[in-house]
Amino acid sequence: MGTIDSVLKENRLFPPTDDFRVKANVSGMDGYNALCDKANADYAGFWGELARELVSWKTPFTKVLNEDNAPFFKWFEDGVLNVSYNCLDRHLDARGDKTAIIFEADDGAVTNVTYRDLYTRVCQFANGLKSLGVQKGDRVVIYMPHGVEAVTAMQACARIGAIHSVVFGGFSAGALRDRIQDAAAKVVITANETVRGGKTTPLKAITDEAMSLGGCDSVQKIVVFQRTQNAPEKWDALNIWWHDLIQGQASECEPEWMSAEDPLFILYTSGSTGKPKGIQHSTGGYFLGTQVTMKWVFDYKENDVYWCTADVGWITGHSYIAYGPLGIGATQVVFEGVPTYPDASRFWSMIEKHKVTTFYTAPTAIRSLIKLGGDLPKKHDLSSLRLLGTVGEPINPEAWMWYYEVVGGSRCPIVDTWWQTETGANMIAPLPGAAPTKPGSCTLPLPGIMADIVDESGAPVEAGKGGFLVISKPWPSMVRTIWGDPDRFKKTYFPEDYNGKLYLAGDSAHRDENGYIWIMGRIDDVLNVSGHRLGTMEIESALVANPLVAEAAVVGKPHDIKGESVVAYVVLKNARPEGDDAKRIAKELREWVAHEIGKIAQPDEIRFGDNLPKTRSGKIMRRLLRDIAKGAEITADTSTLENPAILDQLRQSAI
Ligand code: WT7
Repeated sequence: MGTIDSVLKENRLFPPTDDFRVKANVSGMDGYNALCDKANADYAGFWGELARELVSWKTPFTKVLNEDNAPFFKWFEDGVLNVSYNCLDRHLDARGDKTAIIFEADDGAVTNVTYRDLYTRVCQFANGLKSLGVQKGDRVVIYMPHGVEAVTAMQACARIGAIHSVVFGGFSAGALRDRIQDAAAKVVITANETVRGGKTTPLKAITDEAMSLGGCDSVQKIVVFQRTQNAPEKWDALNIWWHDLIQGQASECEPEWMSAEDPLFILYTSGSTGKPKGIQHSTGGYFLGTQVTMKWVFDYKENDVYWCTADVGWITGHSYIAYGPLGIGATQVVFEGVPTYPDASRFWSMIEKHKVTTFYTAPTAIRSLIKLGGDLPKKHDLSSLRLLGTVGEPINPEAWMWYYEVVGGSRCPIVDTWWQTETGANMIAPLPGAAPTKPGSCTLPLPGIMADIVDESGAPVEAGKGGFLVISKPWPSMVRTIWGDPDRFKKTYFPEDYNGKLYLAGDSAHRDENGYIWIMGRIDDVLNVSGHRLGTMEIESALVANPLVAEAAVVGKPHDIKGESVVAYVVLKNARPEGDDAKRIAKELREWVAHEIGKIAQPDEIRFGDNLPKTRSGKIMRRLLRDIAKGAEITADTSTLENPAILDQLRQSAI
């Protein structure tokens, strides 16, 4: 448990400045503690009050929480609302001319979209979807470039009660097909191409390939947004251009009034088994989670210029681009490109240009920008910044300090936000005007979030000891089920080990002597590569699907920039390849995985063996594989190994 000891040495405390604290939406630890006390005293009353304050209801709810069918909890179940109404219509009077989105394209072109513009775009597109026969409850897959149209498409679905499933534009045809099929989507929305870092990716052609893989019979129409001038290769009766679809559509569209528990969207994420899980989120509780965290964690103020650098393909892009900031009426930057194009000062020059006040990014981006140009922020005027945030993985104290000093000028609190696709919104994070921060710790649970660290039996562990991170009470923005698989939902998140009473996050963590939480890593077969979740099983299944491969085992290895990198141990059907042969096959397998899942899942390292280290009962000893990948001494007991000689071979075979 070396990692625990080393992080515990990090005891520097960074309290908010007086100025920040005084102006903050939650001011000082007194403010934080008062909210926690309220939540402890009357849990339902606490959330009910927030839901009335931050959400506009068509019909107010009379009941806050229904636990009858736990763990299938219901929040605000008789309340009626529409999320798109909350993000657009309710701002029109006071903020119709306020900029909702400052869109910066990959090539630097900037488009400002006001709340009224966005409202019109969403209504027209919503009417377009309706004209295709999309109705409340239908699933719509969105496979688009990150930009105004992706947000418009999500909002339009929310407006008419269709359930969107956004598939990250970096995923392959196979991954897209699996998601279309699992959700039985009626419509797919894509673009001819994406443009990132000066390079294009043919999304329409990948969509065509997904369709040709079969199992997509549910799809009745494919809407294609024209992002570039290049014409798609194929065009058939299923296809319709976005611009043709909205042609002549009315600029008003009455929102579909939804029950708070109606699904808002599904988003697929990786788990311990090969099949991605369709995480289903609700309308009312989810939206409340985004709003309360915009207020508390991002300390939202009317004049902020907020920028979250995520892509809408991930939960961060859902909660903190498509819904959170729009719901609260913010002006936000939406950036199509990558942090390193045209050079590694792109983020800093954009912060300067758009006078960004609130900046939310990932540790992996921070680490790569330090490496590519740690001095670059100093060449820009970053004085508009007042708050910084990180998400996706633990941030190492060195990167934290650089972010704090060089980017934030030692003036901006950093909110290190722990949460997950399943939690819908931030769960553990400092309230920036309250909690003094510590580099590398996500600090304290938000008021109303009952986080705990427990052992195998569910008993809380003492400070300094590692354990399993759990949430012991339901919260409004929690996952409702896994699409089409309620049993898996129950087994995965509310396991019988804890009598089905605790939400098991899948992370290990410990608390320090101040009660601050430190996330240590995943406890399941899930990797965190550049803040993206990848199941080792998914990559293994992809490898084994290659005709050359007999067997594969995938593990993670610590990586300076990506957090973790992917190491694949592969046994071929033919003899173990060596030299140039091995290199050629490794390259082929990397391309294969990119094609099967997406570039993000490509193994960084491949090791060929005659076989894999297995116990006599046939279980692959992954712990050994992790040690070999790290180049570490093998300390584990190898006496139960069927074939100990294999370890030497694998140690020497990295490609
Ligand atoms: C997993 C969830 C939440 C949006 C991005 C990822 C890790 C997330 C932190 C953090 C340490 C973190 C956890 C978690 N994680 N944020 N601030 N500190 N670890 O969403 O793909 O659902 O992944 O990311 O391991 O379980 P996701």
